[in-house]
Amino acid sequence: MPFFSTLSYSSCNEDWRTERRALRVGPGDRALAITGGGDRPMHLLLDDPASVTAVDANPAQSALLALKLAALQALPFDEYAAFLGLEPATDRVARLEALRPGLPDDAAGFFDRERAAVARGVLYAGRWERHYARVARVGRALRGASIRRLFAFDDLDAQRAWVHEVWDRGWWRLVFDAMCSRTLSRMVLRDPAFYAHVDPDFDIGAYVYEGMRASLGRHLARENFMLSLVLLGRLAAEDLPPYLVREHAATIRARASRIARVTADLVTFLEQVPPASFTRLSLSDVPSYLDASTFERLLAAVARAAAPGARFCIRLFLTSHEIPERLQGTFVREPALEEELRADDRAFAYRFLVGTVRPSETRGAAA
Ligand SMILES: C[S@@+](CC[C@H](N)C(=O)[O-])C[C@H]1O[C@@H](n2cnc3c(N)ncnc32)[C@H](O)[C@@H]1O
Repeated sequence: MPFFSTLSYSSCNEDWRTERRALRVGPGDRALAITGGGDRPMHLLLDDPASVTAVDANPAQSALLALKLAALQALPFDEYAAFLGLEPATDRVARLEALRPGLPDDAAGFFDRERAAVARGVLYAGRWERHYARVARVGRALRGASIRRLFAFDDLDAQRAWVHEVWDRGWWRLVFDAMCSRTLSRMVLRDPAFYAHVDPDFDIGAYVYEGMRASLGRHLARENFMLSLVLLGRLAAEDLPPYLVREHAATIRARASRIARVTADLVTFLEQVPPASFTRLSLSDVPSYLDASTFERLLAAVARAAAPGARFCIRLFLTSHEIPERLQGTFVREPALEEELRADDRAFAYRFLVGTVRPSETRGAAA
C-alpha cells in the first residue's frame, strides 16, 4: 500500500509539548518513539534520555529521519533549515550529494529516487503536508480575508470574540464535512487512519471542526503550528517545532547519536525485544491503523516490553479503541492529565491514553 512505502509525514504533525508532559522523559530513560516525520524521536532528546529507539513500518519515514539527522549534524543551523525547506534554497540537490556518504544505505537509496522532493524541500514533501497545501488553497479561495484576519490576532480574548461572531459559520462547518469525508480521504489522501477502522457513525467533520474551534479558544492561531499547517499550508513562524529552532536544534545535534532507527511493524518489534526494554513509550496514533484485536496485541506487547513504572502516551484520532478489561490492571491511566492534554494539544484532534505500566508482580492484585 503506497501509504506505507512513500513519505506520509514530513514536518511535524503532533504537539511536542504534549508528549513531554505525558512522558516526563529524564536522564537514563530508554525511550521508544514512532518515527513519523522524525520530529517525535528528535524532540525526546531534549529531555536527555540515554537512548531513543525510533520505529516505523514505513521505510520512507525511517529514511527521512536519517536525512534530517545527517543534515543537522553536518550543516550549520541556517543551512540545515534551508536544506529541509524552512527557508528558500536553490542548492538542495548538491547538498544531498555532499551528505550522501554520511547517510545509511537505505536513506541514500531512498533519496536518490526522491531528488525532486529534496529539491523542493523535504519538510513539505509528505502526503499530509501536500494535502494541507491543497486544503489551504481551498481555504484561501473560500475565506482568504478571514484566514488572514485570524492569523493576525495577538490577543486571545479578541480572537475568541471574533471566532464566535465571524469565524464560526454553518456553511464553514459543511466545508469541513466535505473535506473530511471518508470518500474524499480514500480517493485523495489515501491515509487509512481516516477510514479503515473508524466507526461508521463517527462524524469526522464535526469532530475535527469542534477540535479546531475549541483550540481557537485556547491558543492564538499564529502560535499554533497545526492550524497554520492546515489553513496556510506551512508551519507557524511563531510556533516552530524545536528541531527547527536554533537553540533546541543544537541540543538535539549534540545527542543525535542516541537515536537508533528501526524499520518494522511496531507490534512485532515490541513482541521481540527483551522484556522491560523501554522506560518511555511514545506511540503516536498507531491505533488508527489497527483493528481491535491487533490493538489488544499491541497493548500486551507494550506491557511486556515496558520496564516497571514505564510511562506511555498513546494518541487516539478517529478510532476509539478501549483498553480491554484483562489489561486494565496493567495500564494505570491518568484521566486528569489525559483530559488536560486533549484540551491543550495544538494538534487539536487527539484524545489520549497516558499513564504508567504497572510492574508485572502487582498486576493481578490491582486488576
Ligand atoms: C501513527 S502515524 C500518525 C502520524 C502522526 N500524526 C505524526 O505526527 O507522525 C505515524 C507513523 O506511524 C507509522 N505506523 C502506522 N502503523 C504502524 C505500525 N503498525 N508499526 C509501525 N509504524 C506504524 C506510520 O507509517 C507513520 O509514519
